[in-house]
Amino acid sequence: MTLARTQCMARLVFVLSVVFVFVYFLLPPSPEERLRIEQALREKKIKKFLRNERFAQHDMMVSDRRQREEQEAINITKKIIKERLRFHFHDSIPGSSIRYDVMRLNRFRQQLECMTSRGSWVLDHTPRPIIQHKQNPLYGKCDRPFGISNNSTMEEKWNYARESIKYVWKTPAECPMPKFDVEQACSIFSGKWFLLVGDTLHFQLHELLLDYFSDESVQCYGEISCREHVLCKVDSNDPAHSVKLSKMRFTRNDIISLTKNAKYAGGNVELPWTAHVHYFNVLIMNRGHHWQDDATFRGGLINVMNYLRKKFSNTLIIYKATTLGHLNCQTAGKPLSSRPNATEMESLPYHWSEIHRQNLIAREIVEAVGGVFLDLESVMMTRVDGHIGGRDCLRWCIPGPTDVWLDFLFHIMKELR
Ligand SMILES: *[C@@H]1O[C@H](CO)[C@@H](O)[C@H](O)[C@H]1NC(C)=O
Ligand SMILES: *[C@@H]1O[C@H](CO)[C@@H](O)[C@H](O)[C@H]1NC(C)=O
Ligand SMILES: *[C@@H]1O[C@H](CO)[C@@H](O)[C@H](O)[C@H]1NC(C)=O
Ligand SMILES: *[C@@H]1O[C@H](CO)[C@@H](O)[C@H](O)[C@H]1NC(C)=O
Repeated sequence: MTLARTQCMARLVFVLSVVFVFVYFLLPPSPEERLRIEQALREKKIKKFLRNERFAQHDMMVSDRRQREEQEAINITKKIIKERLRFHFHDSIPGSSIRYDVMRLNRFRQQLECMTSRGSWVLDHTPRPIIQHKQNPLYGKCDRPFGISNNSTMEEKWNYARESIKYVWKTPAECPMPKFDVEQACSIFSGKWFLLVGDTLHFQLHELLLDYFSDESVQCYGEISCREHVLCKVDSNDPAHSVKLSKMRFTRNDIISLTKNAKYAGGNVELPWTAHVHYFNVLIMNRGHHWQDDATFRGGLINVMNYLRKKFSNTLIIYKATTLGHLNCQTAGKPLSSRPNATEMESLPYHWSEIHRQNLIAREIVEAVGGVFLDLESVMMTRVDGHIGGRDCLRWCIPGPTDVWLDFLFHIMKELR
């Protein structure tokens, strides 16, 4: 009998719980309860909204402050240029065909600005020739050593290539990116003698030029200095042989100082370079990853420009903007989908957060003395991929994202012919 009673009790409990569940979950809540639930939901939404708003507000504050600091730095630079820079060119680019023509000068600068600042990286699988890296093995780190032979066709090499090689810098229709081959580049470079001065990041341009124009590997002294290289050969029977030749030389000076003796101080390598300028007609320089405060940076660059323009009034000066480093580049498989926002820029280590402002300072000074400011900072901003990797998230493998630097250089030299 007790068993039957227990069973009966159990059934009763079961039925009661089903009824309870039904009443609790399926019947609509009482009006008061509904009010309470709605209120809670609303509060949660508001809290979330406020949290996002706080983030956005913080971003905006950081962005405003950075813009103010940048504008201030530009204003101060303009003032100091007036006081201390002894050469001003507002209608000419010395060493080029743009002379006393303010319209052409502005058109050239606007075109270049459009090409550097308004483009984006787009994956393009159309097979095309790839620069073959033959120099310092550091820049070849991204590639597997075997697998492609000298006899492979262009398509085979293309299919084998890394994805970071396959992005193209797409610019608006009003400022298309021109594409060059070696023959065109050599006709543009004819008679141009390039002196490259800067730090190891700038050395990458030396490597790129050698890879592009030279069939063989060239011996250099680390990334310190290298002998003169012929970029485009000219038939030695040509009477104008020595005039048509194009050459290049790199000298390392991390802070572009006017030193007369080789120095190594405060972590900066400073080799003398000014004695070479006389033998070259194009000077390509860069500085930025060897940080100094704004005043020192600005003063140093103004001194250099005063010196150059006083002694070499017809040398074409090209200043390559400093490119940003990227955190965690080792794991990146493609470019960033958008540029880092102000908060992200502000939180970058190693003074990277100040690079943009110092590039703006450099631009004021370089353009004031009739130089060309090449804004590769904008172009390379999202290229977190294709870096050499390991601990090097500053430089990129060759071939890779930097190949486009040459297109910019060819464009500049073509326009200024
Ligand atoms: C910079 O100069 C411009 C024009 O002279 C002025 O309107 C602006 O307020 C200045 N900005 C800062 C941050 O000094
Ligand atoms: C490709 O050619 C270069 C010189 O032209 C040679 O040094 C190299 O060994 C060759 N590589 C292969 C895989 O045949
Ligand atoms: C490459 O081509 C040359 C001549 O066409 C041939 O003699 C050589 O054996 C080829 N090498 C390879 C690795 O296919
Ligand atoms: C800026 O980046 C940070 C960090 O990635 C992100 O949390 C924030 O939402 C971004 N701000 C804007 C306005 O996109």
